[in-house]
Amino acid sequence: MLLVTGGAGFIGSNFILSTLAATGEPVVNLDKLTYAGNIRNLDALAADPRHLFIKGDICDRPLLRDLLARHRPRAIVHFAAESHVDRSIHAPGEFVQTNLVGTFSLLEEARAFREGLPDAEKRAFRFLHVSTDEVYGSLGERDPAFTEATAFAPNSPYAASKAGADHLVRAYWHTYRLPVVTTNCSNNYGPYQFPEKLIPLMIHHALAGTPLPVYGDGQNVRDWLYVLDHCAALRAVLERGRPGETYNIGAQSGTRNLDVVRSICAILEDARPCAKGRYADLIQFVADRPGHDRRYAMDCAKLSGELGWAPRETFDSGLKKTVLWYLENEQWVADVTSGAYRTWVDVNYAKRGAA
Ligand code: NAD
Ligand code: TYD
Repeated sequence: MLLVTGGAGFIGSNFILSTLAATGEPVVNLDKLTYAGNIRNLDALAADPRHLFIKGDICDRPLLRDLLARHRPRAIVHFAAESHVDRSIHAPGEFVQTNLVGTFSLLEEARAFREGLPDAEKRAFRFLHVSTDEVYGSLGERDPAFTEATAFAPNSPYAASKAGADHLVRAYWHTYRLPVVTTNCSNNYGPYQFPEKLIPLMIHHALAGTPLPVYGDGQNVRDWLYVLDHCAALRAVLERGRPGETYNIGAQSGTRNLDVVRSICAILEDARPCAKGRYADLIQFVADRPGHDRRYAMDCAKLSGELGWAPRETFDSGLKKTVLWYLENEQWVADVTSGAYRTWVDVNYAKRGAA
């Protein structure tokens, strides 16, 4: 079985749902249920004995020790993190605590647990660390894409905390031979993404008839990957990735933020025409994010060459599926955007001149 951390978040819940469907392997899901975690994402598994949910913190070492001893997972798939760049600018402390100290706790407990395993299980054990392209920093218009050899140059507290965790994970291979594999993935989008991130935020605001806040000039480029393509890549790396290695994951197709927002508006216009004017009329340029990375681009030749992975969705097909999912799941959006969500929107957008 697998021990998944952060499995009630966006990518973690997609990973659990798709992995159970693909392989049927049981999962213990450890999640603190921060504002970003939502156990309702896993409603479909409520009566499924293959999924065991544990509410808890990855910094809680006695809890980790107990879970590992009790369930004896063959692998840890580590998603748990504070994940939003804008929040890391307002309050970096939690990012250092969960992303760095939490990953350290997990590595230490994994190392101790593995030491006590019989040889065959010891050899088979894996620690899959799920990380981001943001550790590499920012690219200019014409720079080549990031490869696994690109030097780290994180620019936000979020990216720095993930880069620190990546370094720790690497060190546990080199020092202790803990069989780790790290993946660095580009921006994900798809079902169950909390509407603080660009794509679900724009869908949510458009449907509510509120401004669509585009930071700066809207020309920043991200390499958007459909979340289930990311999950398939993670399964490939978990099964066949080489211990001690890192693998870049991305769609290898950059899109400017303004074009992303315009595409969302166009899909919405077809699916549910705007009641007043056009959705695109709601686009508003607002003050830029401090230290805003200009461009990310991923070279995924290592992953596709070694493991034969390729994404199934294009950005057009994935974005359409995503917009339709949000239209069909308005109750989910209403549930996760009640309460504290409004406070965040006020904190992040009030001073930018929109929302
Ligand atoms: P998310 O914010 O949606 O979910 C994070 C989950 O971790 C939540 O369920 C939260 O409750 C849980 N969590 C937070 N702190 C915890 C703690 N101390 N102990 C236990 N659980 C805790 O994030 P996501 O978008 O699903 O990202 C998952 C992972 O993938 C993160 O490590 C992130 O850095 C990485 N990643 C994300 C993207 C992206 O575009 N979203 C891209 C590349 C990599
Ligand atoms: P985001 O989804 O926060 O992901 P990341 O910062 O990890 O790339 O943002 C994606 C891009 O969208 C990023 O360039 C910032 C921009 N953005 C906006 O223009 N407006 C917004 O309200 C948000 C949340 C993001």
